[in-house]
Amino acid sequence: MALIYVSSWSDGDLWRKALVPLLPGEELRVWPDTGDVTEIDCALAWRPPFGSLAKLPNLKLIANLGAGVDYLMQDPDLPRGVPIVRLVDPLMTEQMTEYVVLAVMTGLRRLRDYLDLQREGTWVEIERDVHPPSQRTVGILGMGELGRDAARKLKAIGYRVQGWSRSPKRIRGIPCAHGRERMVDFVGACDALVCLLPLTPETTGILNRDLFGAMKPGAYLVNAARGGHLVDADLLAALESGHLSGAFLDVFHTEPLPAGHPFWTHPKVTVTPHIAALTLPAMIGGIVDNYRRMQAGQPLLNVIDLAQGY
Ligand code: NAP
Ligand code: GLV
Repeated sequence: MALIYVSSWSDGDLWRKALVPLLPGEELRVWPDTGDVTEIDCALAWRPPFGSLAKLPNLKLIANLGAGVDYLMQDPDLPRGVPIVRLVDPLMTEQMTEYVVLAVMTGLRRLRDYLDLQREGTWVEIERDVHPPSQRTVGILGMGELGRDAARKLKAIGYRVQGWSRSPKRIRGIPCAHGRERMVDFVGACDALVCLLPLTPETTGILNRDLFGAMKPGAYLVNAARGGHLVDADLLAALESGHLSGAFLDVFHTEPLPAGHPFWTHPKVTVTPHIAALTLPAMIGGIVDNYRRMQAGQPLLNVIDLAQGY
C-alpha cells in the first residue's frame, strides 16, 4: 500500500524527505500523481482540493497536517467512515504559546503605542497607573491542546488566567468555565481575551459585537484560531468606539489578507500572516505513529469527533 500527500498549499518533497526515513519501504506519492488509486490507504492532507480524497477508494486514514480541521470538514465529498486524525505536537504547542504570550504582552504593555513614541523620539510614560500581571486577567477561549499550555505559561508569568471550553475542566490554579451561558460573565472579567477555539458551526462568528459589548472597556483581543471566528466589522466598530483597546490577529476570513483591508493600516490592530504555529516536517512523528496504529488495528490518537467538528 502507499501514502499520498494531498495539498493545494505546500510542498510534498519536504514531507517525503521527513517521512521516508521513518517509514522505510513505504511509498509516498504526491497529489495529483496518484498512480493506482486502489493502492493508497493513507492521505496526508493540508487544505486538499475538494473532492480529491473521495477519489481514493481504499483510504483507511486521513491525517490532517495541521491542528485545525475546519477546511477539511468543508469538503462536500469528504469520504464518510474514514477516521481523521490531526496534528498535535509539542513544537506546535510551544510556538502557539510563544505567540500568545507575545500578543497578550503587546496589548497589555501598550507596545504599539511605545513603538510609535520611539518613532517620534518621544520619552513619555503612557500610563502612570501601573497594572502588574497579578492585577490583569487573561481569558482563553478554548482550553484544548493549545489553550491549556498558553494558560499555564501566562499563569507562570503572573497573570490571573481563566479558561473557557465546551465541557468542564479542572486545571490547578486556573478557574475554568464552560458553555455559552457562562460566556458573558467570563469575557467580562478579562483584560485580554485570546481565541484558541476550533472553527465549527457553533464557534463561527463568536467574536462579535455581543461578545465585545460584554468585554471590559479597554480590553484587548487576540485571535490566533481562525478568521471565521471574528466578525471584522464588529471589531472595527469596537475599536472605533474605544471600547476595545486593540487587537492582535493572525488569521483572517481571506488569506492572504486582501490589500486594502482596514486591518492592514489600523493603528490599533497588529496583523501577522497566519504564522502563530506553523506545521513543520519535524512534527511527522505523530502521523507515523497513527499510520502504524492503523496498520496494526490499534486505537488511533488525536481523532476528530465528526459530530463536534473538531
Ligand atoms: P483542541 O485541542 O481541539 O481544543 C479546542 C478547545 O476548544 C477545547 O477546549 C474545546 O472544548 C473548545 N471548544 C470547542 N468548541 C467549543 C464551543 N462550541 N464552545 C466552547 N469551547 C469549545 O484544539 P487545539 O489543538 O487547541 O487548536 C485550537 C485551534 O487553533 C485549531 O482548531 C486551529 O483553528 C487553531 N490553530 C491556529 C494556528 C495558527 O497558526 N494560527 C495553529 C494551530 C492551530 P472541550 O475541551 O470541551 O472539547
Ligand atoms: C494551523 O492553522 C493549524 O491549524 O495547524
